[in-house]
Amino acid sequence: MNVITSTQDRGKQRLYIQEVSVRDGFQMEPIFIPTDRKVEFINGLSRTGVAKIEVTSFTSPKAIPALADAEAVMCRIERAPGVEYAALVPNLRGCERALSCGVDEINLVMSASESHNMANLRMTPMQSLDQFAQIVKLVDGQARLNASLSTTFGCPFDGDIPLPHVLDTVARFVDIGVDGITLCDTTGMANPAQVARVCEAVKERWPAMAFTAHFHNTRGMGLANALAAVQSGIDRFDASLGGLGGCPFAPGASGNVCTEDMVHMFNAMGYDTGVDLDALLALAGELPQIVQHDIPGQVVKAGPSTRRYPVPAGKVA
Ligand code: COA
Ligand code: ZN
Repeated sequence: MNVITSTQDRGKQRLYIQEVSVRDGFQMEPIFIPTDRKVEFINGLSRTGVAKIEVTSFTSPKAIPALADAEAVMCRIERAPGVEYAALVPNLRGCERALSCGVDEINLVMSASESHNMANLRMTPMQSLDQFAQIVKLVDGQARLNASLSTTFGCPFDGDIPLPHVLDTVARFVDIGVDGITLCDTTGMANPAQVARVCEAVKERWPAMAFTAHFHNTRGMGLANALAAVQSGIDRFDASLGGLGGCPFAPGASGNVCTEDMVHMFNAMGYDTGVDLDALLALAGELPQIVQHDIPGQVVKAGPSTRRYPVPAGKVA
């Protein structure tokens, strides 16, 4: 693994921050967030400088009732130039729905592990791969295609996922012809040493492929894993405002790495995230009212590390 380099050594390396709170986050919320509120929130996200927003998912409304308004949300948002608007798609039916809304990117999803794929999608991984191949034909250049591999770093049912199995599945995605691949730590089982091994292996074998790292902070290792990934050559990160997130079909799943905490860290290290941290923090401040509970993000509570307080009167030496 690379050592941490100084800003001068590294220059302003560009990182791409991809916001998933309105999909990975809202899908877990027990309340149905009204469509207009989702649209307003996504329009706010579009003004923060994030590179991509995963707007919703075209899944069965019985499986994910919180996102049953996928078409309405996708069609009503204002699209900002320079921002990509993606949607998660589990099957052919979802692909048809996403294309009818003119999404920029279809994010296909399947799991590295058999048991999580069955629990989440009611298909074997082979059946998912078959659907993906049909989807590539159906899309035929109308949208970019990304494939997300859930449970890449461990499965709550099946345990460890051997690296050769991850590489074989990534090879299938590459053969099918996707434009990008996301390595997902669905239930926060990854550790930084493992992240470095996996990320270095995929970057070495497919240097030109656009890989994204998608971490959950379930066990407090999210930012450490993001740091390991960036040092292993990954420059695209999914993250969720406020640290919302989780998979309803993976026991123990909880929030993604928090976007504003991740941007705060990368900006402070001298990376160019292109994101306006103040705009993100202002929007994160709206989340407790939207989801009607406290959010796990830390910088929104503590303020950025550049925050200064007046010295208490009478205590100066
Ligand atoms: N969009 C809308 N409805 C869909 C759909 C889609 N993409 N795919 C299937 N359906 C509908 C079918 O029309 C059918 O409806 P009906 O009961 O009214 O006839 C019903 O869902 C069941 O269809 P079936 O093909 O048997 O699907 P399933 O019950 O085996 O479920 C998935 C498969 C993939 C649709 C479902 O498991 C799902 O949506 N999972 C999403 C999981 C997810 O998003 N997890 C979090 C993100 S990782
Ligand atoms: Zn996730």
